[in-house]
Formats: sequence, C-alpha cells, structure tokens
Amino acid sequence: TILVLDFGSQYSHLIIRRLRELNVYAEMLPCTQKISELPWKPQGVILSGGPFSVYEEGSPHVDHDVFKLNVPILGICYGMQELAWINGKGVSRGDKREYGPATLNVQDNACPLFTGVDHSQVWMSHGDKLSALPTGFTTVATSDNSPYAAIAHESEKIYGIQFHPEVTHTAKGTQLLKNFAVTICGAAQNWTMENFIDTEIKRIRALVGPTAEVIGAVSGGVDSTVAAKLMKEAIGERFHAIYVDNGVMRKNETVTVKKTLDEGLGINLTVVDAGDEFLGKLKGVTDPEKKRKIIGNTFIEVFEKVAEGIKPKDGSEVEFLLQGTLYPDVIESISFKGPSQTIKTHHNVGGLLENMKLKLIEPLRELFKDEVRHLGELLGVPEDLVWRHPFPGPGIAIRVLGEVTPAQVKIAREADYIYIEEIKKAGLYRQISQAFACLLPVKSVGVMGDQRTYEQVIALRAIETTDFMTADWFVFEAAFLKKVASRIVNEVDGVARVTYDITSKPPATVEWE
Ligand code: XMP
Repeated sequence: TILVLDFGSQYSHLIIRRLRELNVYAEMLPCTQKISELPWKPQGVILSGGPFSVYEEGSPHVDHDVFKLNVPILGICYGMQELAWINGKGVSRGDKREYGPATLNVQDNACPLFTGVDHSQVWMSHGDKLSALPTGFTTVATSDNSPYAAIAHESEKIYGIQFHPEVTHTAKGTQLLKNFAVTICGAAQNWTMENFIDTEIKRIRALVGPTAEVIGAVSGGVDSTVAAKLMKEAIGERFHAIYVDNGVMRKNETVTVKKTLDEGLGINLTVVDAGDEFLGKLKGVTDPEKKRKIIGNTFIEVFEKVAEGIKPKDGSEVEFLLQGTLYPDVIESISFKGPSQTIKTHHNVGGLLENMKLKLIEPLRELFKDEVRHLGELLGVPEDLVWRHPFPGPGIAIRVLGEVTPAQVKIAREADYIYIEEIKKAGLYRQISQAFACLLPVKSVGVMGDQRTYEQVIALRAIETTDFMTADWFVFEAAFLKKVASRIVNEVDGVARVTYDITSKPPATVEWE
C-alpha cells in the first residue's frame, strides 16, 4: 500500500485514482497524521501538493518520523517544498507564478523515477519555488522556468517534483507514478475489483460475526443497491434492507425497487409506504431548506420504527447500520483544509446510529463512483440501475418549487418520466450526468385546440459533470427538445409550457432549490 499524505491540494485524490488505475492500492490520510499511529506500514509515501507556503507560520508540516519509516518518499509541489524546507529551508516565493504546461528536461541516467518520462509535457501549478538544492539532493530534471523541476536523494530514495504527475495534462504522469510505486517502492499491482469483492466479503463477515444482523436503507440508487447486494453476498438473510416510500419518489419507483432488489437480487427487503406522513408534514412548507429538514427527520423517525420491528427469529440483535458512503465523501472528511481544519461528517443518518446504538458499516468507503458501478456490474446488479443518474434524498419535493402537494408531485413526476424516457430512447442517458424536470410555481397562458389554457411551467435540466461541484448544461438537438416539450404539454395535465435550463454551475446549482 502507498500512503498519500494530503496537504489540501485540489488534485490530491487524483493521486489515488492514478495509482488505482495501475492496480496499486493507495490510501490517503491528512498531512497531520502522526506516523507512530499509522494503522499499517506503507511501502512508500507521497506528500501531496497544497495551497500553503512552507515558510509561513501556521502552514502544515509532515511528522518528521516519516523518514524513520525507511520507505521511499515522493514530494509533489508543496510536498517537494516541504522536503526542501526540512532539509535546508531553500524555499522562496517565485518571481512569478507558474501555471500550465512546461517541458521537462531530464538529466542523463537521472534516476529510476524518470524512466520513460524525458522531454514530455508536465503540468505546473505553483507560486513558491526551490531557491537552492537541499542537503544531499541532486537535480534530476529542469524546465524553462524551474531549475529544480525534480530533485532526488538517491541513497535515501527521496524524490521531489515541482509538477503534478496526477493530472492528465502531465503526459507521462502515470508512468512516473508507476516508476515510483512499482519500481521504487515495490508495490504489487494486484488491486482489482474481483479481489476487492473477496477481501470485502471476508472483512464484513469478520466484522459482523456469526450471529449479528445488519439493517440498511435502500433508495433505488446505485450506491445503496450495490452496498446492499454486497451485504447479501456476505451475510445473506442477516441483512435487512428497508425502502421508505416518502411520497416524493420518481414514477413507478417502489414497484421497480421491489422487483429489482427483492425478486431480482434476492435481498431481504421491507417496503414502507409512508407517503402520507411525509406529504402531511410538507403541507404549507415552501422553504427549500425546511423541506430538506422535514424529509430528513421524518425519514429517521420512519426508519427507526420499521427497524425496531425487525426482530430476528433466533433472538440475535441488529447491531449494524449499512451506509453507502463513497470515497469522495471520506476524502472530504479527511482532507486537510488548513490550520483550522473543518471536518464534514459524511454520514447523513448520524441520528440513527446514536438513537439505536448501531455501529456503522461502510463497504464502499474505499471506492469512487465509477468503481461502484463496476462493482455493481460484477455483482449482477441490472445495467439500468448501475448507470442510473443520482437522485437527491428529498426527491421531487425540491423539484416542485414552492409548496409540495400530491397534485403538484404528480405533475412533476409525469413530466420527469416522459423526459427521461425520451433521453433513453435517444441513447443519451449515459452521456448526461443528471437530468430531471422541475415544476415551477407560475402560471402561463397557452392555447390547446380552441381553448385558452392557464397552467404551470415545466423546466427541464440536463447537465454534464465529473464531480457535481461544477457542471455544464447539456446541448440537445432542437428536434429532441421539441419532441419532449410537445409530449409533456400534451400528455401531462396542468402544464402549459416547457423551458430548458441553460445555466451552468456555478453560478446556478444543479437542483433548482
Ligand atoms: P446542487 O443542487 O447542490 O446538486 O448543485 C449537486 C448534486 O447533489 C444533489 N443534491 C442532493 N442530494 N440531498 C441529496 O441527497 C439533497 O438535499 C441534495 N441537494 C442536491 C443533486 O441532485 C446533485 O446531484
């Protein structure tokens, strides 16, 4: 395993991604990690980039015991400056920031880190630079702007690079990381999804033991379904999935979830119809954050009630709560954000753990979204479900702008169904990251047949994104939009007009509320 110590760079998680692509297992911990308290011994350590300056007071520094591990170390950008700072302090503010591509010139017979990497484009993004070589290091590569683009302490196997090998703009970046992890550190290239399934099932069995039971909520989405299927593989009937119909799910959702999870995947499933309870509490509420809170709290109440009713026949206890947490959430909560580190708690059902005295089980916490999809495919989760767009917890309640009533939900649901159906028919579903219809609380005049109409407006949204932090709107062909608009106005009672949202994120968000 390779350990990545994170100094807060926006690229840190990409180091893990690139290593996984090489089938090398890597984990990230904050740069403040005490080395004596490491839960496992790494084969090599990578110090990531970060937004700070090593010479400024309050900037983060690595535990010097990292050198006592006696494993190879690679410092990237801030990580390299940190190595230089510890070994002689030759770091200063550059005359100008260097941001963008540069060409790397590697010295002859430089070092194993640069095998196959010479004269290629690298990506720079730094304000500080090395002003002198730290003690014991030699220069192994330069660029026009960086006399110390790469440095090495060969006998200690400590390397520093000013550029970012983890971004795709660095042409041979993956090769460089492979040289470090595989050649220099000797890490095995055996991390595959098949191996992951085996080890994770063993881990779950050991954790849960021979009798305890596990419950978990399923939503019909990718993460909870894949997590549930993995639990089913690991402990069979001792895993109980609970699906709460909150009255603001998509059309046919409950029937589909029953069919796929219960009948298809053989998961022990309890379906709860709590639509009236949710909609009752949402009556008269228009504020989006209030809607979210009501739905979140009601979910916990309903779930708890149902979970208490799950009494295993043999008298064993429900001890664990399954949660489909993914690696980006884990990273978010362990990333180093600065001296005043804020940690976001990533489990949104925290209340359940406390009230019900449950322990958390998170089998997907090492995986990125596309890896979860791959895992789902290997576990036999239907393709339609594996590639499903994300759907927010508060569901259609935040897609009906203003007050949420059963009638309004019905309109939004029907329009959304038609829209998604047409997207699938056009073969565009996988190209789009997320698409949905919103119902706006305004009325507009129309004419149908000889009749004047005065009905509401549907707004369609479709976006492309990799991380949902930024997003661009999807460019449909006019004929497609024409067809969808015509179908919605003709088939959905209560809609007079259809618009298409052409705002990116930022400044807009993905959802309308
Ligand atoms: P925004 O609107 O914040 O959406 O740009 C980014 C992603 O998050 C989803 N989203 C939510 N998911 N509960 C959720 O579980 C919520 O309250 C919520 N709000 C937004 C949104 O669908 C998109 O994928």
